[in-house]
Amino acid sequence: MMATATALRRPEIKTELPGPKGRAIVAADAQFVNPAYPRPDFKLVAERGEGVWVTDVDGNVFLDCNAGVAVCSTGHCHPEVVRAIQDQTAQLIHMCGTDYYYQGMPDLARKLDEIVPIEGPTRTHFGNSGTEAVEMALKLAMHATGREKFISFFRSFHGRTLGSLSLTSSKAAQRLGFKRQVLDVVHMPFPNEYRNPFGDDDCGNGGVVEGAVNWIEKRLFHTTTPPEEVAAIVIEPVQGEGGYVPAPAAFLRELRRICDEHGILLIADEVQSGMGRTGKMFAIDHSGVKADVVCIAKGIASGLPLGACVARADLMDWKKGAHASTFGGNPVAIAAALKTIELLQRELVANAAEVGAYLKSGLQELMAKYDCIGDVRGMGLMIGVEFITDRASKQRNPELRDRVEMAAFNRGLILLGCGENSIRWSPPLILERDHVDVALEIFDEAITESR
Ligand SMILES: Cc1ncc(COP(=O)(O)O)c(C=O)c1O
Repeated sequence: MMATATALRRPEIKTELPGPKGRAIVAADAQFVNPAYPRPDFKLVAERGEGVWVTDVDGNVFLDCNAGVAVCSTGHCHPEVVRAIQDQTAQLIHMCGTDYYYQGMPDLARKLDEIVPIEGPTRTHFGNSGTEAVEMALKLAMHATGREKFISFFRSFHGRTLGSLSLTSSKAAQRLGFKRQVLDVVHMPFPNEYRNPFGDDDCGNGGVVEGAVNWIEKRLFHTTTPPEEVAAIVIEPVQGEGGYVPAPAAFLRELRRICDEHGILLIADEVQSGMGRTGKMFAIDHSGVKADVVCIAKGIASGLPLGACVARADLMDWKKGAHASTFGGNPVAIAAALKTIELLQRELVANAAEVGAYLKSGLQELMAKYDCIGDVRGMGLMIGVEFITDRASKQRNPELRDRVEMAAFNRGLILLGCGENSIRWSPPLILERDHVDVALEIFDEAITESR
């Protein structure tokens, strides 16, 4: 009997990449689809997904360590998720939660209330994407505080719609041509422990945490950004598109203190880092810090479009019509989310912690072997690997990163770059140790070939 993709232990590449069918689709895409999609150099034309395996239109089988950019948390087409979607689709596809009611909406909001890192009761707004969850958080923060300034971080990514774009600063291309930003946002350096962006002036006798705290309290608050005018500080507890860089736990605790002292809201953008990816349900859980607002999307519904903005219930004191969405919280997406969370709680968050630690130690071994890996960082199955020219200069090496990404792809391993010179590991949370062994072997070969 022919082996199915799930039974395969290794990727299987049979054609040049992309193959003939793939090339035809890429050509049609080039003619008709938005050319601004930031696609990488390699071209994956997917046809089927099963667990951690993706088969392209030419029959090549890949081990997916990107999960559709950190979305397919339960793996591709998890049978229980598929069944939940099929059952819901046969029963009710759409009703518009802004005007009518259905069981799934309060069920999922109640579930989120149970799991989000927010003190006390919460309420949830449902949208369709990460950027919509962020838009909602921004509007709510302005409405609830009566203030309109925000503090965000360089290299952060919060979306591309006009409100969230004001926060986003991971690449100039995201801003170029869009003129003045809509919101009053001041950006500050992110406390990156591998590349401390703060000088002695800010750090004093301390390190990156002191540098970042002093930047806020002694620079921003004394100059451009009086604290009494700040509605919220928005942070990715692990910077995603910016390079898979975790914020130090001590910094998140300091942010909580600063926000409490000045009536500022702390918004955790967990769109990429949430839903079990880091080995806890939310990345901020590693610090014990509670946020006022949490933005969720990507991994929440195993691939169906769903965004959620969960906030302290007392903040959502606004009138009918202040914010709503026709499709947000669609019954099918909600059914997928409820099943996804069940699977995460049953075993996948724990698996992300366990297999993630195994993957990280394997990557650290590669760092010991190769001078061109400067840093391996992250928690659970959200791990960044930074490529440099050499350890002494720590100079970023984006060309090498791109070559490694391509060489891995040509061997059937899907990895995606992030930041200027890093590769992100964001596999489905069902990844097993055997998959890690195969992936690390391929990654090792890809680095050897690319150096
Ligand atoms: C942290 C974070 N916030 C927001 C977004 C925007 O999400 P979407 O592309 O679903 O609008 C992303 C997407 O990568 C993200 O990583």
